Amino acid sequence: MDLEPYDILLRKGTLIDGSGRPAFKADVAIRGDRIAATGDLNDAVARKEIDVSNLVVAPGFIDVHTHDDAALIVRPEMTPKLTQGVTTVIAGNCGISGAPYLRPGEPSDLLHLIFKSKEFVAPTFESFLIKVENAAPAVNAAFLTGHITLRMQAMGTDLQRTATRDEIAFMRDLLAESLAQGALGLSTGLFYPPARAASTDEVIGVARPLADCRGLYVTHMRDEADGIMESIEETLKIGREVGVEVIISHHKCMGERNFGRSNETLARLERARRSQPVAWDVYPYTAGSSALLADLVAQSSRTLLTWSDPHPELAGYELNAVAARLGCTLADAITQLQPAGAIYFMMDEADVVRILSSTSAMIGSDGLPEDFSPHPRLWGTFPRVFKRYVRERKVLSLENAVYRMTGLSAERFGLRERGRVAVGFCADLTVFDPNGVADAATYEEPTRPAYGIRYVFINGRMALDDGVPTDTRAGRVLRRAAMKDCPAVATLP
Ligand code: ZN
Ligand code: CU
Repeated sequence: MDLEPYDILLRKGTLIDGSGRPAFKADVAIRGDRIAATGDLNDAVARKEIDVSNLVVAPGFIDVHTHDDAALIVRPEMTPKLTQGVTTVIAGNCGISGAPYLRPGEPSDLLHLIFKSKEFVAPTFESFLIKVENAAPAVNAAFLTGHITLRMQAMGTDLQRTATRDEIAFMRDLLAESLAQGALGLSTGLFYPPARAASTDEVIGVARPLADCRGLYVTHMRDEADGIMESIEETLKIGREVGVEVIISHHKCMGERNFGRSNETLARLERARRSQPVAWDVYPYTAGSSALLADLVAQSSRTLLTWSDPHPELAGYELNAVAARLGCTLADAITQLQPAGAIYFMMDEADVVRILSSTSAMIGSDGLPEDFSPHPRLWGTFPRVFKRYVRERKVLSLENAVYRMTGLSAERFGLRERGRVAVGFCADLTVFDPNGVADAATYEEPTRPAYGIRYVFINGRMALDDGVPTDTRAGRVLRRAAMKDCPAVATLP
């Protein structure tokens, strides 16, 4: 037994260690920024002791799909995440990252969606990471380099075509530099207008440097509706040709005529898993959210406006009502409201359940923190999985749900020494009430904090104390370089 007192001792909790194995009773001790001991620590002493009987002690949750890039700098308290028990976020998704970008003027188009102002973009990946570090966010953060950002850097506004060989070589060099500076990999958003004209070969050409350093290829696929199977084939092909692990972002089957097709997509992905590394993430809602785009409105049974620069007063309203209010057709309203964002009701609950419980599904919120009236997933994703899919619908066991938020995510994204409660691992811990944890954010009231998360520790420091955020901001920027020896990256049985 250790004679030195521990810094923090969590007594009598139910430990769910993030590996997927069954819960068991155990004390957990922290010293410095590490987990120092687990098990029966009855005789141990600590500077601070907390009785956590009737609570679950789990690894801090990892939000694998976020657009928190600018939020980490503007609102470093990161309250929407902390109150859900999230201790690490992965940003730079859907092809959109804050670096490397050094075009003069305000960020254009999609970059504007997340970054709002040029203060939050940066000419090199490293300088962006330093901006984040200087803001001292409450949670850990790791970043992908976005293909759309690279395209805008290489091609300016001339984006309605595939890149030339020289432009591809330029983007490839920028990616290689970003990877050397700590990027986890490349993200694409091939669905979005600034990237839609990119050919599969362009993406393969740009993604080449991933192979040398086990970077990830993370994608918002070209088509999540009628062309979903073709998009999956394209994604798998990119993974094979480049020789890298693929992560499919926010996997879904969009539009009523595609309801039920997760049977097809998951069968294909399960088959692919046997010959190439592939995983995916999902959020626990049947509505999506993105920029206001006519294609997406057409796929949806209902659309809610989340923000609009010319009409901020209309955020939160149904698009039909907005068009009536503006006295124009739906199509004209979509044009008049730009730039704008929306929530789209366009998924089937049975698909969500099937994807959520599939082997390689991780939890990612895809929350949009800059939206005026955001999708409730920003504040509710992780607690909602417990409330709706563990307790109410019994789709996942508690241990399995935690695994999809922690161990699986750390393994797939190569986050070394995180995602598990194990001696020597970083002390990122979330303590919650398994019977009370629940989302409170709704489409009507999207920013209500979740219930039931009691304590959060990040790098050994208490970030949430009895449900209340402390002003401790102990998050770190996680760089790839520090992860290169991670044995768990990019290999599947
Ligand atoms: Zn996306
Ligand atoms: Cu996204």
